[in-house]
Formats: sequence, structure tokens, C-alpha cells
Amino acid sequence: MILGERLRLRAIEKEDLPLFVGWLNDPEVRHGLALYLPLSHAEEEQWFDAMLKRAPEERALMIEIDNDGEWLPVGNCSLFGLDWRVRSAEVGIMIGDKSRWNQGYGTETMRLILQHGFETLNLNRIFLRVYDDNPRARRAYEKAGFVHEGSLRQAHYKYGNYSDVHIMSMLRAEW
Ligand SMILES: CC(C)(COP(=O)(O)OP(=O)(O)OC[C@H]1O[C@@H](n2cnc3c(N)ncnc32)[C@H](O)[C@@H]1OP(=O)(O)O)[C@@H](O)C(=O)NCCC(=O)NCCS
Repeated sequence: MILGERLRLRAIEKEDLPLFVGWLNDPEVRHGLALYLPLSHAEEEQWFDAMLKRAPEERALMIEIDNDGEWLPVGNCSLFGLDWRVRSAEVGIMIGDKSRWNQGYGTETMRLILQHGFETLNLNRIFLRVYDDNPRARRAYEKAGFVHEGSLRQAHYKYGNYSDVHIMSMLRAEW
């Protein structure tokens, strides 16, 4: 377990997959994600099997919040694309349980995964990509300490429109 103040990160189990299928088929949740086609249970199982073959440091983690003494799964996060020579990784997050948005869990998760990346994995740079039309995510990342590094113009396309993709990062020296 990676323990935070109000939440913890744990390994994802096969039994968790139906939760992910539900979250990832919700248009509001997937608005900020790269997915654009309906997702089946079979596809999610394939994702899970492939995920287990990744290096342990790159496996996705379940976010569980302390809900009056019970651990409640609300989403996932992961470091990926680790480059051990440059000591760099990308981070992604989804809080699939919409009833838990805007309560600081995304910010706390990012702070926890930054701590894990810098202090446990000894990384030097952690970055992310976020769509221009995802102000909630951008605000959460700013609160966690990520800085805007640059933008990829019209690098995303959804609902008939192009939008920019912003790169945000944190260096170990800024942690
Ligand atoms: C993005 C996500 C991780 C953020 O997590 P969260 O727990 O909702 O975020 P937090 O509560 O920590 O912070 C959200 C901040 O955005 C603000 N916010 C919400 N909607 C906003 C909007 N439309 N414009 C500007 N700010 C907004 C909130 O008020 C809060 O800021 P505050 O604490 O200063 O008031 C979560 O909403 C999520 O997983 N969404 C679906 C998947 C997704 O988009 N993932 C990110 C892909 S890059």
C-alpha cells in the first residue's frame, strides 16, 4: 500500500475490472481521457493482462479513499513510460466515481504519486498531458505543484473540434 492522508494506492485485482468498465463508459469521465469507443469487459480484461506484464513500477494502482473507516475504490493512477536513464516518467489519473470529484482527492493522489516517484523510484522528472477542455484536471495538477511546460496545438480531436494538449511537469528539485 502507498498510504496518503485520506486515501491509499493499492494493486488492482481482477475483481475490480467491472468498476473500471462502468467508469470508463461514462461520457463525463472519459471526456478527459483518450478513449472514444465503448469499452467491453473482454477489452478491459485484455488491458489487465497486459498491465500485469509491464514492469512492476508501471502497473496501474487503485485509488481508495477512507470512507468512514472503510476503503472505497474511486479510480486509478499510474506512472508509465519510465526512462531509467533520464529518470523520467509520465503520470495518468482517473477518478471514475464522479460523486467524489472536487473534494481534493485528485490533488492528493497526484501529490502521493509524485512522492512515490521522487522518493521511492528516484525519478527526476514527472510529466503529464492534459486536454485544454479539462479545467478541473488542470487546476488539480496546479494545486499538486505541476507547472505548465508547453502546449501541443490542436493535438486532440473530440466532438468535432480540435483542442490543444498541455504538457505539465514537476522536477525533483521542485518537490
Ligand atoms: C481530473 C481529476 C483527476 C481531478 O480530480 P478531483 O478530485 O476532481 O480534483 P480536486 O478536487 O483535487 O481539484 C479540482 C479543482 O478543480 C476545480 N474545478 C472544478 N471544475 C472546474 C472548472 N470547470 N474550471 C476550473 N476549475 C474547476 C475545483 O474547484 C478544484 O479546485 P479548488 O480546490 O481550488 O476549488 C478527476 O476529476 C477525474 O479523474 N476526472 C475524469 C478523468 C480525467 O479527466 N482524468 C484526467 C486526465 S488528464
